Amino acid sequence: MNEWYKEDLAFIHDVGFGDWALKSAPGILEILNRSQIREGLIVDLGCGSGLSAQEFTKADYKVLGIDISESMIEIARTRVPDADFRVESLFKADIPPCNAVISLGECLNYLFDLDNNSQTLVEFFYRIYNALTPGGVFIFDIAEPGQLTSGTPIKNFTEGEDWIVLVQKEEDRDSEILTRRIITFRKVGEHYRRDDEVHRQQLYKAADVTAKLRQVGFEVETTQSYGQFPLPKAHLAFIAYKPA
Ligand SMILES: C[S@@+](CC[C@H](N)C(=O)[O-])C[C@H]1O[C@@H](n2cnc3c(N)ncnc32)[C@H](O)[C@@H]1O
Repeated sequence: MNEWYKEDLAFIHDVGFGDWALKSAPGILEILNRSQIREGLIVDLGCGSGLSAQEFTKADYKVLGIDISESMIEIARTRVPDADFRVESLFKADIPPCNAVISLGECLNYLFDLDNNSQTLVEFFYRIYNALTPGGVFIFDIAEPGQLTSGTPIKNFTEGEDWIVLVQKEEDRDSEILTRRIITFRKVGEHYRRDDEVHRQQLYKAADVTAKLRQVGFEVETTQSYGQFPLPKAHLAFIAYKPA
């Protein structure tokens, strides 16, 4: 069992933070449709609890979801029995020949896999490019530097019926690393169970990501929303096309 998105945070992400995946899905399906990708395999990297995989499956695509969190994949397998799921780092996974690769919710920023850096990002983009069929598309979003407006850490909380999550965020302006300290309380029987996680993310600048995608051979568009779903501040989505 790894240390991130363990059982309680995976549950809380699924029940309390599903909007990103669910509200992005119609916009993504629209991009696929515009790109004449109306069937075939979508690889969903950092698929989490399978919310987007379920939407893609409903639209008759085949889906392979890959996530580093066992607990996320456990929920995903129950939710979408028709899709395939693997517990693996997206930076190391073999990506099979496919029509589209999707990664929603700033998955490429996470430093869970210490091999994630700007050099391995290019290698990762090459692997995706090689896996995509000509005319295929890679759609993903990233968090950029500037997540916090001031230099001081901020703290907030979000609550649901039987859980609460407390988050402290701190951005190091020099290393461009965002650290989220996360404390969860989830009701189990009569008591609330506490768990703690620390998530570090390398924040990537949009211009650098665009340059790397072009270096690999992609044609690149960027957008601040997936259809009707606007991304939060200091986030950007990329639509990277492999020429037909
Ligand atoms: C914010 S969640 C988004 C989940 C899902 N895409 C969604 O939109 O609901 C980020 C996901 O990325 C996964 N993740 C982070 N680093 C990863 C890596 N190196 N390999 C695979 N999954 C990773 C996490 O486990 C988590 O499920």
